Amino acid sequence: MTSGNITLTIIKPDAFTSGKAGKIIAHLEAEGYAVRAARVMRLTEAQAGEFYAVHRERPFYKSLVSFMTSGTCMPMVLEKAGAVAALRKSIGATDPKEADAGTVRKLYAESKERNAIHASDSDENAARESRFFFSEAELIAAK
Ligand code: CMP
Repeated sequence: MTSGNITLTIIKPDAFTSGKAGKIIAHLEAEGYAVRAARVMRLTEAQAGEFYAVHRERPFYKSLVSFMTSGTCMPMVLEKAGAVAALRKSIGATDPKEADAGTVRKLYAESKERNAIHASDSDENAARESRFFFSEAELIAAK
């Protein structure tokens, strides 16, 4: 598991609680991603607030934190060559209405906010976000 080949994804509460996690994981595995770490959890308000701190000043921040704490979600570390760019392509645009056909959000997302899945936007954030959810021991074990 080397930098450049890993990314952090979250199957968000809209998709997880409506039973779409299995289909989304199967979709990603079929596209060549390997699940290296995974957890099923419900984010606390503090965790969601910290994870999305970069959006703190945005008008949708409060609603986003409320959505992300509304039910169970599933953070995962995925491995594939060029994982960060590849996964952003695989999941599609933030708004499912604008997402390309065959992307995870086109297939499974409800709306711009309830958009089924998160993906890291840089290698640096992939490493930071992986450490947010998983211990060093879990990340080492995943190698
Ligand atoms: P993501 O890109 O994974 O991380 C930021 C999240 O904020 C995004 O997914 C959506 O869930 C949410 N988001 C982004 N833009 C908007 C918006 N304009 N209105 C509501 N939610 C948004």
